[in-house]
Amino acid sequence: MIGRLNHVAIAVPDLDAAIRTYKNVLGGTVSDKMDEPDHGVTVVFVELPNTKIELLHPLGDKSPIQAFLDKNPSGGMHHVCYEVDDIMVARDRMVDEGARVLGDGEPRIGAHGKPVLFLHPKDFCGTLVELEQA
Ligand code: CO
Repeated sequence: MIGRLNHVAIAVPDLDAAIRTYKNVLGGTVSDKMDEPDHGVTVVFVELPNTKIELLHPLGDKSPIQAFLDKNPSGGMHHVCYEVDDIMVARDRMVDEGARVLGDGEPRIGAHGKPVLFLHPKDFCGTLVELEQA
């Protein structure tokens, strides 16, 4: 059911420093910064030939990223995002299999303007999983 790896997200304490690392040290192609107030994050995407890296930085007081950075002050891998053809079909199947969907269980519009859901890390080998409808 899961398809392509859409992106790997890395939470960073200093977004400009992370952009410099990905641009100058790794030679990556980095997008402009995008504020996503609904998600409490500022993001940039690093375009790779086969996937993307999403660099996440907290935006606002209630950012869900802040607690992660408090525990991981130098940053770290925050989630992986898998593509699915139909997010409602995927969600219902995962819930039937006992997986927990975060929040109210309804998809929200993610960074790419497509519906996304987040799944509980305890149900997925300790990794926060995002599903995005391709
Ligand atoms: Co993401």
